[in-house]
Amino acid sequence: MSPRRIPVDSTVIAPRPGATRRLHLHAAGVSVVLDVTDGRIPAIAHWGAELGKLGPAGLDAVCEAAVDPVPHNAVDVPVRSGLLPQQSDGWIGRPGLSGSRPDGSGWVPRLVTGGIELDGHPLSRAHTETGAATVRFALADEEQGLEVDLEVQLLPTGLLRLRAALTNTGATPYALDELTLALPVPAEAEELLDFAGRWTRERTPQRRDFTVGTHLRENRRGRTGADAAHVLHAGQTGFGFRDGEVWGVHTAFSGNHRHLAEQISTGHRVLGGGELLLPGEVRIDPGAQYRGPWLYASYGEGLDAVASRFHRHLRAREHHVDRRRPVTLNVWEAVYFDHDLARLTDLADRAAALGVERYVLDDGWFGSRRDDSSGLGDWVVSREVWPDGLGPLIDHVTERSMEFGLWVEPEMVSEDSEVARAHPEWILGPSPAALPLESRHQQVLNLTIPEAFAHVRDQMMALLDEYDIGSLKWDHNRDLLEAATRSTGRAAMHEQTLAAYRLMDELRAAHPGLEIESCSSGGARVDLAVLERTDRVWVSDCIDPLERQQMNRWTAQLIPLELMGSHIASGRSHTTGRLHTLSFRAHSALFGHLGIEWDLAEASEEELAELRAWIDLYRERRELLFRGDLVRADRGESPLWLQGVISPERDEALFSLSAVGRTATSQDAHLRFPGLDPSATYRLRPLLIGERPSNLIPPPWLERALEEDGLALPGAVLVRSGLTAPLLDPEQGLLFSLVRETDPAPVP
Ligand code: GLA
Repeated sequence: MSPRRIPVDSTVIAPRPGATRRLHLHAAGVSVVLDVTDGRIPAIAHWGAELGKLGPAGLDAVCEAAVDPVPHNAVDVPVRSGLLPQQSDGWIGRPGLSGSRPDGSGWVPRLVTGGIELDGHPLSRAHTETGAATVRFALADEEQGLEVDLEVQLLPTGLLRLRAALTNTGATPYALDELTLALPVPAEAEELLDFAGRWTRERTPQRRDFTVGTHLRENRRGRTGADAAHVLHAGQTGFGFRDGEVWGVHTAFSGNHRHLAEQISTGHRVLGGGELLLPGEVRIDPGAQYRGPWLYASYGEGLDAVASRFHRHLRAREHHVDRRRPVTLNVWEAVYFDHDLARLTDLADRAAALGVERYVLDDGWFGSRRDDSSGLGDWVVSREVWPDGLGPLIDHVTERSMEFGLWVEPEMVSEDSEVARAHPEWILGPSPAALPLESRHQQVLNLTIPEAFAHVRDQMMALLDEYDIGSLKWDHNRDLLEAATRSTGRAAMHEQTLAAYRLMDELRAAHPGLEIESCSSGGARVDLAVLERTDRVWVSDCIDPLERQQMNRWTAQLIPLELMGSHIASGRSHTTGRLHTLSFRAHSALFGHLGIEWDLAEASEEELAELRAWIDLYRERRELLFRGDLVRADRGESPLWLQGVISPERDEALFSLSAVGRTATSQDAHLRFPGLDPSATYRLRPLLIGERPSNLIPPPWLERALEEDGLALPGAVLVRSGLTAPLLDPEQGLLFSLVRETDPAPVP
């Protein structure tokens, strides 16, 4: 639903001297000062550390102190980067709004601020100070017939988010090329961090200096992408998990989109993002509106603080999953396309005996889908492999107190399918004569065609109506190339993305409680818009624990552990060929929504016993893992990674030490456990589950902790002076449980 339009003061057609309004929003240690000087478009005078109560004079001081001197040979007024930067304010960098009318006009808007609303009430005061709040600015260029409803929200978590909707109030259509929002960051932000990636290697960090020019991350894949920027950060040189001021943005959109970091010659630096529109795809008719996605922005001292605002925000949502995330078994790497009832029920028995709580049947159950070359789009149970339907398997699973989940890929279609043969015009493609290159032997169904949408929706509904299905693993296994409606040749990417959201929304509305896992060739659809309608993401098709150490670590920069599908696979990784012990596989999977993806019929009795112990541990600790705060220790280049989850009360924590490589010196530095209360005393207990890590040489403190019932240690030692690290072989890990010691009873 598009928000109600807020009134524009129709007398405002140019910046008005004196029409200055300033707002200070603050929440959870973050201040945002918005400045509408002389009725110009809103600029941010400060986004960062809490400024405390400012009062009118303080608010003016913040805004005035943020004004630059005017250099020679530049526009004659100080340049401010507005939230929607434009040339009429002297901004010579990337404009926020680009587009034009059929006669070529309208490309250089002169927006000014009309009305302002604070939490739904018109704002007339020149100075306003408030906590978390929603501010809406009505921007208008009356001459060119453009209005922008700019919404800025500071959420209770200190997370900032903004979005803009453009209305065409002119008489001719407006072809929109770009609507990108931008947030200024100060000159202290000298370094950038964002992510690269590919299939089986999602979220690989990359750093660079924040120099003059634009670091532009454009996505034209029609899905969020294994190489998505994820969160684009700018921060003080060398910023880490715990230190250095950091500002990060995330564009919440699952179709084409962009993130950018730009520094112009004046020294102004901005972080921005928005949807990436294809030529001609958004043509706004007179009176119509285009609304862009949310741009989320998180500030903190260190990357943990930035991540924690995202986590708290997601956890505060009404529909957020509960903490008893069910131990899941997915059959994919166990059986692939070999669907055999006897084998699958046997797997279900083995899973149930281990304490598995959800059983997911993956690809291969429908239409002609006996391998990945055909059948997508025909969402009807294959009678060839399932002569009695899915009922017998589902009954078997649910009788063993497990919930049943099913794999689907609703946006896709195989050329070799009933639906594509009947409706070749339902495939997205550039023209009636041509189709895009196939990718994984498949094409994309054009969900913007109402009949195609109805086809897939109705088939999905029929499955959900017939069977007891608690969750869907919703896959999306290809990029969208040449994504147009074939009959017209018009780009359909924008509408396709919205239609996919609508499909998820309709299925969820009709089946309350239905969970959806967002999968896309592994982790290529991880973003905050898809997470509005999904309940977990599949981080990667690579379950190699060494790789997952990195991918899970950085996926968690945006989403909390309970939303990250994290499985224990067979000893030899199917995607890297590496061999790992069960304890390292389970150790690495534990910090996430735990599952198994392994042919249990091949596991030995010892392995099954160990697996059971890990599952028990997960079930014991999931409450902590999914309500606590994630902390990651800064250990430079050291391959001994230390991370933990600490309860909000700081009375309990679980830490994991993982050796992801070897060091040049035999002894690595001290381990400092970030985030604990330095004034408390904690009992530290090493948790040794299953096989002892190979070549573990414990230092004396660990020796004692292993022999006795752990070790009571002052928080200051854990947090500040640190403990000598044990020696460990690579690809081995250790877990530590920490519990605050209750104060001894006072001596009478
Ligand atoms: C994708 C997913 C896998 C699996 C296969 C099925 O690659 O990421 O987990 O579901 O599809 O074809």
